[in-house]
Amino acid sequence: MIKTIFWKNNSVVLIDQNALPLFERHVVCKSYKEVISAIKDLTVRGAPAIGVAAAMGVALGAFHLPSLSPEKFHKQLLTIFEEIAKSRPTARNLFWALERMKQAVDRKNNEKQNKLVKELIDEAKRICAEDIEINRKMGRFGSKLLADGDNILTHCNAGALATAGYGTALGVIRAAREKGKKLHIYVDETRPVLQGARLTTWELKKEKIPFTLITDNMAGFLMSQEKIDKIIVGADRIAANGDTANKIGTYSLAVLAQVHHVPFYIAAPMSTIDISLKSGKAIPIEERKSEEVTNFKGIRSAPAGTKVYNPAFDITPAEFITAIITEKGILTKPYSSSISLMHKEDKPS
Ligand code: MRU
Repeated sequence: MIKTIFWKNNSVVLIDQNALPLFERHVVCKSYKEVISAIKDLTVRGAPAIGVAAAMGVALGAFHLPSLSPEKFHKQLLTIFEEIAKSRPTARNLFWALERMKQAVDRKNNEKQNKLVKELIDEAKRICAEDIEINRKMGRFGSKLLADGDNILTHCNAGALATAGYGTALGVIRAAREKGKKLHIYVDETRPVLQGARLTTWELKKEKIPFTLITDNMAGFLMSQEKIDKIIVGADRIAANGDTANKIGTYSLAVLAQVHHVPFYIAAPMSTIDISLKSGKAIPIEERKSEEVTNFKGIRSAPAGTKVYNPAFDITPAEFITAIITEKGILTKPYSSSISLMHKEDKPS
């Protein structure tokens, strides 16, 4: 199994996603600042994986603090939380994981520093292990939506690499395959960072799942040729009404799917849903550096000084989404009711 992120010898170990598919190597983060850099430069990416990295970053930061008075320890811990929260803005899972870690702090507030640090390490490991379990559950629900022989289009990478393991959208595909369904996957290359071409293909090849790589601008033509039966993608943040932020290009796919009557599914854990935001309009969209668009691996493909707009995500309106696959079940329209109901059930009483 692909293990995207794990805790080893009081360090956070990550698969280096910037090196894939050419090199399979790991990056060892020995400080929380290194974890922040890894989140920012996409060494670790994908909403659930970013959440796990954030939790492990907190644990690592706490582990390296010297012995302090309780007040000073909590002050330093707060700085660690605040810095990690600034690493990337869109994925809800990052903030969800930080909230879980804060609850762990509150649980052990009156304990000695070493006990609290141990609890933070244990909680980060739990968040990591639970993520894989959640993806498998999502896979079991979602696989029912896929039929033997389906041609499925996916965008970006919502696989094992985007999570602690197994994946969300690719987890659904994996689960359907485990049930014996034969599938063929069209992989959008996913400009500008090529998560589809570099990472999704790498995962599918490893699993021997048949796939064909296409450029993003080919998807509409394929739909017009009736080559795509279903589309499944992941999500970075889902608002209370079902509007969904995901990798730039997702919105175009959803609109095309609507015109061509292709079912369009989102697969995401409950931790991606942000019940506090009424609609997608309130989801913060990260803008990344212009070099992602003007250069590829250091080689310039646009004239020097070219002005660039590079939003990393877009918003797909809820009306274009056929269903949202979660670990609690499959949510359907109207999402404001199905999300609110599922959210209430998800909360521990
Ligand atoms: O910029 P990235 O690579 O972190 O963007 C990732 C995506 O948009 C994924 O589709 C999303 O996080 C879902 S991953 C299960």
